[in-house]
Amino acid sequence: MTAPGTLLRPFERLISISIGGRSVQVPENNNLLRCLQYLAPEPVSYGRFCWNEDCQYCRVVYDLGEGTKARAAIACKLMVQEGMRILDMTAEMRYCLRTLK
Ligand code: FES
Repeated sequence: MTAPGTLLRPFERLISISIGGRSVQVPENNNLLRCLQYLAPEPVSYGRFCWNEDCQYCRVVYDLGEGTKARAAIACKLMVQEGMRILDMTAEMRYCLRTLK
């Protein structure tokens, strides 16, 4: 398996996002699915994701903080932003993140 670090776009710092109320640090300047792979390398790498905006297994609902509008997006296209809150995700993604501490 390729080390996930080589799959990431260049970044200088980690930013905070939350997933289901849990705060995590992920590399800036990367799409959300790649950041989830950073957090759970093996399960996400072996997940049924096309990485190509096709399969829809990476659908999420997110907002950008308290009082902001919730939006639907696909994680393989959505760039992470500081303070982003992932409110809901597909069963495939939940399964891949099941070991996340
Ligand atoms: S991984 Fe298939 S649409 Fe995002």
